[in-house]
Amino acid sequence: MTRENWGTRAGFILAAIGSAVGLGNIWRFPGVAFDNGGGAFLVPYLVALLTAGIPLLIMEFTVGRRYRGSAPAALRRLNKNAEFVGWWQVAISFVIAVYYAVIISWAVWYAVYSFGQQWGEDTATFLVGDFLEAGEMYDFSGWVPNIGIVLILLWLATLFVIGAGVRKGIEAVSKIFIPLLVVMFSVLVIQALTLDGAVDGLNQFFTPDWDRIAEPQVWLNAYGQIFFSLSIGFGIMITYASYLRRKSDITTSALTVGFANSSFEILAGIGVFSVLGFMALETGVPIADQTYAGVGLAFIAFPQIVNTLPYLAGVFGLLFFASLAVAGFTSLVSIVQVPVAALEDRFGWSRGKATGVIGGAMAVVSIVLFPTVGGLNLLDVSDYFINQFGIAVAAPVSIVMVIWVARKWKDLRSNANATSTFKIGPIWLVCLGVLTPIALTVILVLNVRDLITAGPDDPALGLYNTNQGFGWALAIAALAFGLIMALALRRKDSPEPIDEEEAAQPLAAGKEDS
Ligand code: ALA
Repeated sequence: MTRENWGTRAGFILAAIGSAVGLGNIWRFPGVAFDNGGGAFLVPYLVALLTAGIPLLIMEFTVGRRYRGSAPAALRRLNKNAEFVGWWQVAISFVIAVYYAVIISWAVWYAVYSFGQQWGEDTATFLVGDFLEAGEMYDFSGWVPNIGIVLILLWLATLFVIGAGVRKGIEAVSKIFIPLLVVMFSVLVIQALTLDGAVDGLNQFFTPDWDRIAEPQVWLNAYGQIFFSLSIGFGIMITYASYLRRKSDITTSALTVGFANSSFEILAGIGVFSVLGFMALETGVPIADQTYAGVGLAFIAFPQIVNTLPYLAGVFGLLFFASLAVAGFTSLVSIVQVPVAALEDRFGWSRGKATGVIGGAMAVVSIVLFPTVGGLNLLDVSDYFINQFGIAVAAPVSIVMVIWVARKWKDLRSNANATSTFKIGPIWLVCLGVLTPIALTVILVLNVRDLITAGPDDPALGLYNTNQGFGWALAIAALAFGLIMALALRRKDSPEPIDEEEAAQPLAAGKEDS
């Protein structure tokens, strides 16, 4: 059976943007930027994008296209000892997908609630109490039917798109959803910019607070945000690139996806900080003193802002939450595709079987665990640990395995350059192979130290501190899964080996065939 291909290059780029632009851009970024000093955060963010994000995206695109496989299959073909990283990334994707879907189902409800502002005046009590019915983290009783039913439908839609295949499913959906998202979100941001006080919000967003830049946590958040947001470090872009045709341009596609994603993210920041400025003017509480973290910014502050809008409040709310749901859906599809493609490639399963078995398992875990009393805290703690000690560790480990252990940088560089108009050279290698692993190691060590030495009631780390046992177990289990799978499959080659000689041929630069 020949491997599926993307229909067109534009189709691949739209699908990759669809994966990158997601909850990370709209739900996570403004909150993370807010918590990490607003303007101060943009400096580490841009450093992380240029020195780590884009170089790693180029590496993942090249590995995927060159070795034509999902993360475990491609990395194994690259070097037997690297397969564990692929399975580790499969486990990370599993964890992310199960909580990611739940946030999309909240967004669907909030789009509906926008009309008539059904969340009432006290949006915090509404979210935690009335809507989520949330409480103690390990209490999985009290399944909330509203959220559960939307979640079931969302999983059915996701598995349907994946089951329809790369071209007819993922590519077709991205071609509709991404233009729709751009239109909806642009209208929203333009509307936000016309509000009184928007300029104050933007000043807050773009004025650096240099003191914060000395904190390792701010840097780890910047790298973590870039990896999560660009969908790198957890297998997605390797998998997507494995459906590329041999002659497709790698580096220009990576630059397009990288800059499109960050533009969208900064646009989301502009929109959210404009409305925060408006809010500050209305309430008299300066932006810096408003306390919204992560989840709160989208689902507590935003509804509050909608409540105070002078005109078209319902439309404003609808645009925001519908954008969140649409952006999240195309990303969820890409995250679920990682384990599905891994089973197809490594065990020779059909697409239908892999989608039903592993996609079905993810759906069940997500549907059973998250719409419950403990769901909110479980989501928050899982998101923190799987990003900071899952993706942010797997990403540099994958770089070290590819560049230094397997010593494939020359091969990958010439493979990418052979079909790309923008050529990569020593700067790519230094950023990817030297700067990124060193920077991440230093940041991680400092961060682990902070977490381990935090007193039991350290308020700065809150929930993450009190649930360290669970968090570490989750991060370590993902790595352990990678090692066990790789060990178990050590002697078993993929059912469909690629033609090594053909794959290694540097391709003549020429007209792309897609
Ligand atoms: N890249 C996806 C996002 O930003 C996962 O949400």
